[in-house]
Amino acid sequence: MKNTTNKIVLIGAGAVGTSFLYSAINQGLAERYGIIDINEVNSRGQKLDLEDARPALPRDFEVESGNYELVSDADLIIITAGRPQKPGETRLNMVADNARIMKQIALQVKSHGFKGVTIIASNPVDIMTTVYQKITGFEPKKVISSSCTLDTLRLKLELSKIFNVAPTEFGVFVMGEHGDSSVSTFAHGTLKGIPLSKFFAKHSITQDQINEIHERVWKKAYEIIDCKHATFYGIGASLTDISMSILRDEKRVFATGSLLNGEYDMYGTYAGIPCVIGKEGIVETYEFPLSEQELAKFKKSVNTLKENTLLALKAIK
Ligand code: 2OP
Repeated sequence: MKNTTNKIVLIGAGAVGTSFLYSAINQGLAERYGIIDINEVNSRGQKLDLEDARPALPRDFEVESGNYELVSDADLIIITAGRPQKPGETRLNMVADNARIMKQIALQVKSHGFKGVTIIASNPVDIMTTVYQKITGFEPKKVISSSCTLDTLRLKLELSKIFNVAPTEFGVFVMGEHGDSSVSTFAHGTLKGIPLSKFFAKHSITQDQINEIHERVWKKAYEIIDCKHATFYGIGASLTDISMSILRDEKRVFATGSLLNGEYDMYGTYAGIPCVIGKEGIVETYEFPLSEQELAKFKKSVNTLKENTLLALKAIK
């Protein structure tokens, strides 16, 4: 592992953003952190609280709060700003409100000369990422949506519970929208290279039960929001994992959102597909093999994103 002197700036210091920071400092992700929040008293409080952890952690870091000047020398920006999802709401219900917020952030980031990689986690995330990329005009490979990375963790976790194998061992993705129309890639999924279908057969798992696994995955956020009004640890850990691959140039593969440019014959919107993530951002995308049904579902999901992107763009005209 190479030594780094990296700076990460968080925009939006709510529960998701601060869970990311807490996970990041515990894993020694970067040497410098900046926190920007619309509520400057909150970002100052977060800075003061996080810095108290310094003497207790094996890798020291600096943390400051402030305004958009913090981004000018940052390597990585993580955007989690946006209004929270209320119980019963879908992510898409927030499209207009959060597009307005994202537009202001994009203008600020651009005008302060940021040159690094951006990861966006604000929902509806693939649409907010499309908005941000369009407004900043940044190279699409340097703008990443957290998209289906969390859903993929959830899918691996479900499978690990069923097969009693570590979640890391599954070669599966959730793809498309990070939301209700997402697709789990069961047909060509593997457990360490062995087709998942063999394990489904071995455990007598029916198609209905496979459908239920996907249902548990996409409904999990709603379950958590009903219980505790928000989800933040899972996405915080997922953002740390993606950031690690960028700052250490690890080139690991995540179901992050990439601006589709012909993958599966789809164009023009961010959606979750397997992406190789390194220090330049998205190094390469892959077309994971899909069954006919999964492909149709994926295309439908991308079209849902496209329709809602139009609503977002209308809201910020
Ligand atoms: C999640 O899936 C709500 O997008 C958030 O946890």
